[in-house]
Amino acid sequence: MQTLTSLPDLRAALAQLPKPLGLVPTMGYLHAGHLSLVNTARQQCETVAATIFVNPTQFGPNEDLSAYPRDMEGDLEKLRNEGTDIVWTPTKEEMYPANFQTWVNVEELTTYLEGAMRPGHFRGVTTVVAKLFNAVRPDKAYFGQKDAQQVAVIKQMVRDLSYPIEIIVCPTMREFDGLAMSSRNAYLKGDERRAATVLYRALNAAKSAYKSGERSANTLRHLMADTLRAEPFAKMQYVSCAHPLTLKDLDWVEQDALFSMAVYVGRTRLIDNFLLDGGKWVTG
Ligand code: PAF
Repeated sequence: MQTLTSLPDLRAALAQLPKPLGLVPTMGYLHAGHLSLVNTARQQCETVAATIFVNPTQFGPNEDLSAYPRDMEGDLEKLRNEGTDIVWTPTKEEMYPANFQTWVNVEELTTYLEGAMRPGHFRGVTTVVAKLFNAVRPDKAYFGQKDAQQVAVIKQMVRDLSYPIEIIVCPTMREFDGLAMSSRNAYLKGDERRAATVLYRALNAAKSAYKSGERSANTLRHLMADTLRAEPFAKMQYVSCAHPLTLKDLDWVEQDALFSMAVYVGRTRLIDNFLLDGGKWVTG
């Protein structure tokens, strides 16, 4: 596995490697969810590249960038074990040179859900992902279903900017009790870890009701919210039942719906979702 920092070195190394090329972009502190993306890329591509860059522009002013967990040594070891060919760890100066002033912004889709709660977040995500795509020029790029809106926004950007890149979405990986894997789980302390399963429980409440025939999106939203409110350590930020592509609120749930939520457990903000895709549940 080659680990590179400069862009010219990355380009030179990639030029020697066979196609198709798969890219797994990450912010590091890797868990089994990230590794499942690498594993899927390994099965589908001749060359697998991963990037590790904690992107400052997707953190809001009240989100602690400096506290974001990091473990470069451990991450490189995990990527090596998973069969990654190339890891790019660009510097902040490489990604955001002095006088940087060009941004990529997906407009409407980023006004909903996470975008409404975290203004500017997706502008940071799409800008950095566009730069990673330009640097690596992959044939396929791998993202987790856990960040469902990120997936929708990146797919929109790829369409709008005509990137010749296929976006592959991999299922959410979960802990034994249903908690979606996330680097932020490292922040959960004591009872918060147990309480954090409330997101999974709330999503399951909506899924069970749907399976019993409930089709009113409002009723399903209320069911999720009631489950969240019953957990004393949790503070709901939003629950949503929306169309998975447009992210617009649904009135009635038929074959396609994204059930999603953001919840504070203590000071840790967690998100999770279940996708109803053509009448089939994708829950991870
Ligand atoms: O999902 C993430 O880890 C980040 O948002 C990404 C896609 C690596 C961009 O910084």
